[in-house]
Amino acid sequence: MVFDYLEGAADDESGLRHNRSAFDKLQFLPRRLSDVSTREQSVPLLGQQIPLPLVIAPTGLNSAFWPKGDLALARAAGKAGIPFALSTASNMSIEEVAKGADGELWFQLYVVHRNLAKSLVNRARSARYSTLILTTDVAVNGFRRRDLRNGFAMPFKASARAAVDGLSHSRWLWSYLMNGMPELKNFATDDASDTASQAAILRRQMDASFS
Ligand SMILES: Cc1cc2nc3c(=O)[nH]c(=O)nc-3n(C[C@H](O)[C@H](O)[C@H](O)COP(=O)(O)O)c2cc1C
Repeated sequence: MVFDYLEGAADDESGLRHNRSAFDKLQFLPRRLSDVSTREQSVPLLGQQIPLPLVIAPTGLNSAFWPKGDLALARAAGKAGIPFALSTASNMSIEEVAKGADGELWFQLYVVHRNLAKSLVNRARSARYSTLILTTDVAVNGFRRRDLRNGFAMPFKASARAAVDGLSHSRWLWSYLMNGMPELKNFATDDASDTASQAAILRRQMDASFS
């Protein structure tokens, strides 16, 4: 179910196929007989020079892939000298990631109601995130058939199918049991200490009327 979440897309996944075939059409244009004895991959990006033309894009639920996945990605990005973007739907909080990683951090915000947006942006700012990404293509969640079939949601839905899936991936299951159910930590409060309440806050706060 985790693989399907990472690899899958909405409805009949034709958007994913179109994207792949568009990327397949791109090719390098070889330029011969130029001096490539010194090669340089660094590029200017938003006012600074980064060593690779890459940024780690925001992905929600990184702990489903790897325990403390947000931090692992932030540290790897820091080591490579490139920015890491933390998702609104991260499993570690804005502050936890900032505390554990020393590279450049960006924060991704969904279009949510103003007060929540303000509070998340202020938290990111105080925790030294340098750049804000506003994601405007998720007014409502896509109809992801694989996830619905697998019961992949926050929190995971227990079912015979999920149990068989977990048992046939014992390493994943072990790390999952050792690290506990991934939470949407940016929404954790005394009143929302479990994943279901945190996910409900995010769902309620999405502002589909924004234009
Ligand atoms: C598993 C997964 C989770 C994602 N989660 C988020 C997210 O939480 N917020 C967001 O703005 N984009 C999210 N995205 C979109 C990515 O940030 C990125 O824009 C998209 O994957 C296109 O880049 P790519 O062609 O390198 O995959 C997610 C993508 C994937 C595959």
